[in-house]
Amino acid sequence: MTTTSHLNALQEEIRELARVRDAVILAHNYQVPGVQDVADYVGDSLGLSRMAAAAPESTIVFCGVHFMAETAAILSPEKTVLIPDLDAGCSLASSITADQLRDWKAQNPGAVVVSYVNTTAEVKAESDYCCTSGNAQAVIEAIPADQQILFLPDVYLGLWLERVTGRNLNIWMGECHVHAGIRPADIERWQKEAPDAEMLVHPECGCASQAMAFGNEHTHILSTEGMVKFAEQSDKERFLIATEVGILHRLRKEVPGKRFDPVREEASCKFMKMITLVKLRDALRDEKYVVTVDPEIADRARGAIERMVAIG
Ligand code: 13P
Ligand code: SF4
Repeated sequence: MTTTSHLNALQEEIRELARVRDAVILAHNYQVPGVQDVADYVGDSLGLSRMAAAAPESTIVFCGVHFMAETAAILSPEKTVLIPDLDAGCSLASSITADQLRDWKAQNPGAVVVSYVNTTAEVKAESDYCCTSGNAQAVIEAIPADQQILFLPDVYLGLWLERVTGRNLNIWMGECHVHAGIRPADIERWQKEAPDAEMLVHPECGCASQAMAFGNEHTHILSTEGMVKFAEQSDKERFLIATEVGILHRLRKEVPGKRFDPVREEASCKFMKMITLVKLRDALRDEKYVVTVDPEIADRARGAIERMVAIG
């Protein structure tokens, strides 16, 4: 059997198992190409949350990282939510615990807490609003201008939000190791090599504020879904991509005829890449691994997540 026919057979087996199980397969933009291709829906954190909330199927298989599956379980407590590998975590979500957030809130009574979706369910349960990179600006702008805000856990997203909203935020000093590893030097190198290309930068990047400071009209700070839409609608032909490299598969597939280069090839998230087609097949076949959230925590987290899904 060739590798391609083996891949096709596995994908067919997965589609059949999904049909029999009444399951919808959701995949994040950073998943490996084979997983993206077999999924019912591929998207960013916001789109996936919305799909999870609306899906009519009784089972959701989440090909992404753990906090995403938890969010789906909170939004749809009546559904079975599966993740193909329980170790698919997130360095950014691990950068703040619920205890740390409680201490921070105690030091800032009356402040509103806005948590990026890359957080545990316990942290969301302590939050007033959740947001994703796709609607973070709209969420901040929905809060009265004189209200003190604690923003967590991504420092670079927080700094970018201060810049675009003109607000002062109290920002937690967390970061994603993948995006923080994309250096200003990577951006500068490409700006010299392809000065006319459009530079699409995820706001989790350490370089986001620097890239904007260059004042370059070719630089655009976007969520992963925002990058796909931008490339589709743009009349430009060449794009430099500053985020996790998994998005390149979707860009090349959905926007054929245009050129996409990663600003840093090594920007790969080992947690996202833990999900493979074999593990996805096993998850559907053996109904594992079920992701559940303590009902009391889920009830407290749901309001913040529903606000996120509704805004922007
Ligand atoms: P988005 O898909 O929401 O842009 O987020 C990127 C990310 O790092 C998710 O873990
Ligand atoms: Fe978390 Fe970064 Fe991986 Fe996204 S890319 S899942 S923020 S570690």
